[in-house]
Amino acid sequence: ASTFEVVPNEHPASDEQREAMIDKPAFGQLFSDSMVRMTWKQDGGWSDRKVEAYGPLKLDPAATVLHYAQEVFEGLKAYHHADGSIWLFRPDANAERFQNSSKRLALPALSTEDFLGSVAALVKQDAAWVPTRREYTLYLRPFMYASECYLGVRAPHQVDYCAIASPSGPYFPGGVKPVSIWVEDRWFRTGPGGTGFAKCGGNYAASLVGENRGAQHGCEQVCFVDAASGTYLEELGGMNMFTVHKDGHLETPSLTGTILPGVTRRSVIQLAQDEGHAVTETMIGLTDLLDDIRSGEVTEVFACGTAAIITPIGRFKSENFDETVADGGSGPLTMHLRDELLGIQLGEGEDPHNWMWRV
Ligand code: COI
Repeated sequence: ASTFEVVPNEHPASDEQREAMIDKPAFGQLFSDSMVRMTWKQDGGWSDRKVEAYGPLKLDPAATVLHYAQEVFEGLKAYHHADGSIWLFRPDANAERFQNSSKRLALPALSTEDFLGSVAALVKQDAAWVPTRREYTLYLRPFMYASECYLGVRAPHQVDYCAIASPSGPYFPGGVKPVSIWVEDRWFRTGPGGTGFAKCGGNYAASLVGENRGAQHGCEQVCFVDAASGTYLEELGGMNMFTVHKDGHLETPSLTGTILPGVTRRSVIQLAQDEGHAVTETMIGLTDLLDDIRSGEVTEVFACGTAAIITPIGRFKSENFDETVADGGSGPLTMHLRDELLGIQLGEGEDPHNWMWRV
């Protein structure tokens, strides 16, 4: 991994301030002392690898990201283990996806060495910011954006990369309890040949009208259907989805190019298979799912993602239906897979696939 120069921070938080901030934070609201920065120029590549004080960015009003939204990001967490060591979960997978996302947005690739070096440098510098309370972590958000001042529409000649860190608690404030899903049939997140597989800000921007409609109907998340036919379930506003069938097999929407290839999604497939469950990546029709829920063929549904870990889904709603999954509670396999995954991430269980990466 690359090395980053640490610029001394003149005004770090006091021990008392930091302790209060990492005690029981909500998701993504508070930020640690430091951030990573790096710049890319078309004629010189990446340079100025620095860890410096967290603070506002200086951005020219003509910076192209403000006009044409060339931005990609990642999300991963730093976990505190009982012996005081700090670990990341499959950061190489985030590095790889960051490269794929950049490519789709015509942004320069960041090498795996730079990606891993940057998050390691940030976590080392702000190690005291990793919460110790169970299920609380330091959520890392690497991102890159076009910073060139130019209003022409073309791939940028100057790009900035940053990584920030947020001591965070559960994504859903209610903790682990089943969430309700709004199935959005009016607004699509992305379409064939679009940016669906890339982790770019624009996909999330496009999801918010659906998210709002869901919230108006009392739902915590929205589920998007494919834009081509409007009949297949794709993913939620910020996480992937799995169904559990009564014979114990699992299904999850296949990666058609319009779905985010989640690191947690990939890991859940592996964990379920390790335990002898068949997992099918397939097109899941909305009407089929509703029928399967009604008949008891589908017994559990859950969402998964870095932020959400594994979260049970209790209900699907739209203007035309309101369907409760089984008894609306947290399913046994859902909670078992959640325990298995958390066990690996927190260093409490075996890590047979060597997913954990010590900082
Ligand atoms: C994550 O799970 O890390 C995400 O990026 C989802 C969301 C918070 C945007």
